[in-house]
Amino acid sequence: MKFLMVCLGNICRSPLAEGILKAKIEAHRLDWVVDSAGTSAWHLGERPDRRSVLVAKENGININDQRARQFRPTDLTEFDHIFVMDQDNYKHVMALAEEERHREKVSLILNMTYPDKDLPVPDPYYDDNGFEHVFRLLDRACDEIISKFRP
Ligand code: 4NP
Repeated sequence: MKFLMVCLGNICRSPLAEGILKAKIEAHRLDWVVDSAGTSAWHLGERPDRRSVLVAKENGININDQRARQFRPTDLTEFDHIFVMDQDNYKHVMALAEEERHREKVSLILNMTYPDKDLPVPDPYYDDNGFEHVFRLLDRACDEIISKFRP
């Protein structure tokens, strides 16, 4: 199974989501694939934001080797599930999804934890204190992903 995490810059939220889910996949010995991407091209090729790297490290996860890339329409065919962080990401990805079977793959990640609430993962870029909160939200959502999709 292949999962894609999507945010705006691919330097704060989605790299954390990728790192957290990868750690859980390893712990559960699953053979799933995880990647992340941003809807913007603003940070192409950059490492994750140092604040995301730090909060991940404090929780035993290394995301320093990730590099930002932009979401591309072929991601809709390549991945089985595409988890977006907020409504802007959702609109961006859905606008590129031309087939119903592709649109069905796209969902807000916090709906895993809070079904049908359509809550966003708050963008921590301008909030130094937001990263710990984002980590906890994504950690719980990834637990739900494991529970829902593991064989
Ligand atoms: P992300 O956060 O979408 O979680 O990676 C942001 C990163 C960069 C910017 C905004 C949000 N920016 O404005 O450059």
